[in-house]
Amino acid sequence: RLRGGQHGAAAGETQIFETVVSSEVTRVATSPFEGQKPGTSGLRKKTSVFLQPGYLENFIQSLFDSLPDGELRGATLVVSGDGRYGNAAAVQIICKMAAAHGVARVWVGRDGLLSTPAASCVIREREGGVACGGVILSASHNPGGPDADFGIKYNVRNGGPALESLTEEVYERSTQIREYAIVAGLPDVDLSLEGRHVFVDEKGGAPHFEVEVIDPTEDYVALMASLFDFDALRSLLRRPDMSLVFDGMHGVAGPYARAIFGALGALLNCIPSEDFGGGHPDPNLTYAAALAKLMGLTGQPAGGEPPVLGAAADGDDRLQRGRDADRNMIVGRRFFVTPSDSLAVIAAHAHALPWLARQGGLRALARSMPTSGGRPRLGEGRAVDRVAEELGLPLFETPTGWKYFGNLMDSHLLGGADLSPLLCGEESFGTGSSHIREKDGLWAVLCWASILAHHNVDTPEGQLVGVEEVVTQHWRRFGRNFYTRYDYENVDAAAAEEIVERLRAMGSSFRGAGYGPSEPQLLQDGFALATIDEFSYRDPVDSSTTSQQGVRLLFADGSRIVLRLSGTGSVGATVRIYIERYQPPGDEYALLANATDALRPLVDLALHLSQVRELTGREAPTVIT
Ligand code: G6P
Ligand code: ZN
Repeated sequence: RLRGGQHGAAAGETQIFETVVSSEVTRVATSPFEGQKPGTSGLRKKTSVFLQPGYLENFIQSLFDSLPDGELRGATLVVSGDGRYGNAAAVQIICKMAAAHGVARVWVGRDGLLSTPAASCVIREREGGVACGGVILSASHNPGGPDADFGIKYNVRNGGPALESLTEEVYERSTQIREYAIVAGLPDVDLSLEGRHVFVDEKGGAPHFEVEVIDPTEDYVALMASLFDFDALRSLLRRPDMSLVFDGMHGVAGPYARAIFGALGALLNCIPSEDFGGGHPDPNLTYAAALAKLMGLTGQPAGGEPPVLGAAADGDDRLQRGRDADRNMIVGRRFFVTPSDSLAVIAAHAHALPWLARQGGLRALARSMPTSGGRPRLGEGRAVDRVAEELGLPLFETPTGWKYFGNLMDSHLLGGADLSPLLCGEESFGTGSSHIREKDGLWAVLCWASILAHHNVDTPEGQLVGVEEVVTQHWRRFGRNFYTRYDYENVDAAAAEEIVERLRAMGSSFRGAGYGPSEPQLLQDGFALATIDEFSYRDPVDSSTTSQQGVRLLFADGSRIVLRLSGTGSVGATVRIYIERYQPPGDEYALLANATDALRPLVDLALHLSQVRELTGREAPTVIT
């Protein structure tokens, strides 16, 4: 029941909107929904599944019940999303449920929007990091809309995704839930109005509850300004021979990019989203086609030379799709940087990144298992990243999913040696560091701009060192990992399982026949198979284990085929095959070869061994990156 309208009153700069309400808690009877089991990054389902009455409420109740006792009482909680279909309505419901669980304050980005990295930043930084966590409404790179996907995940106090122990408990509770609690009398908040929306109980008794609608860019932009040397970047970007183009892919990255690059006076290309139709929010060469063209990678760009540095973050149009801006794609003039190379190059330039230099450099590196890391040392479970080796840093190889990096970053809080500052990344266009607990697309672009600034302090005009030169110099020093990923999306789940089962069986007979690193099995095209195993991970910080994280075929020359099933799809299964070949430095011609040509024999072998075409009935993958 709402008594009296909302009325605004200025208090300093923050508007206060006070409303008298009935803050009585209603307990609504409910019964469990099947399958509320979070995957790689939260619960992702078809939007229609989420729209079933009680579905979202059940999940939120299970989540709130799984948090440590007293965690929510009097707390500040962040609730925001990537703006996909259903975002705003879900924010309203979660606010009402938060009130019922004793939360004192909810922070929501204006219009219910926060990029995923900005949400992590708000949890960690705003008012000194008082928030207890955040509910992030996003299915990241999965398309949104009434016929597509919706997602929800919880980030904990450190700003990073909840670990499996928590998400498992949420799932357990979701199978037994009987009721949820909500303050039904709380009106919807006008999310377009920045300020404190304060609710006062009509009887004057209930504890204070407010929803504060915040500027979604404020905390994040301040953090970036503290990490990077904006003056140095400004000088670089003012050079007549320098140009930067940033493609926000119609996503939530746009406002952040405008705030940052606008201040740096850079060229910007955040295309208005209204007329966008039917694309996909993954930032890769297929889906960021406009950028690929502009950078001269496909076809002839209109008018003159392509820009020196191009970048895209994931996102999509306003009505239909997700746009959480955590991923990034880096492109040079007519030159594509693989995410694995991007991570390695940034790591090798730690000394050129101001906040790392200030802290005495990096302490550790981490990458997900399918991300290439240089020549694997056979006989060891862990591939050794060449950069880590050269810098004398520990390298951690984790399962796919950003949450595994968080424990490493917080190792000192959990009783271990301090591994931060730590730099980490994934082949799936995710790069980041311990400055927050999510991957961070714009931060990665700022790293690349800083690297170019570093290389060009003294270069004369017209002789700017560009992205391609930086990367090829890197290859000449560390060698090159030719890399490609084949995705077969939405295939029959049983067929996908069979592919994995067959490879497991192949591993058993391989070992049974006595093959191994000291006696590799000779296959087609001279490939000598040295190991077949399945990746599992023991978290060095909390000792939890995660198994069945992908089958790996390691070859004597350091080449590798990895096959795993995606944990982020929402229907059927997605088979991912990662194919990589290591080229040591020395042979200039081989080092600079075309990646598709260099990988062709290994790709053929991967398709043959996995039988992916035969078992899925797919002649070609859905996407090649
Ligand atoms: C999300 C996660 C990443 C992961 C990616 C692909 O973006 O945050 O950590 O690499 O999805 O995951 P998948 O299981 O689909 O390969
Ligand atoms: Zn994303």
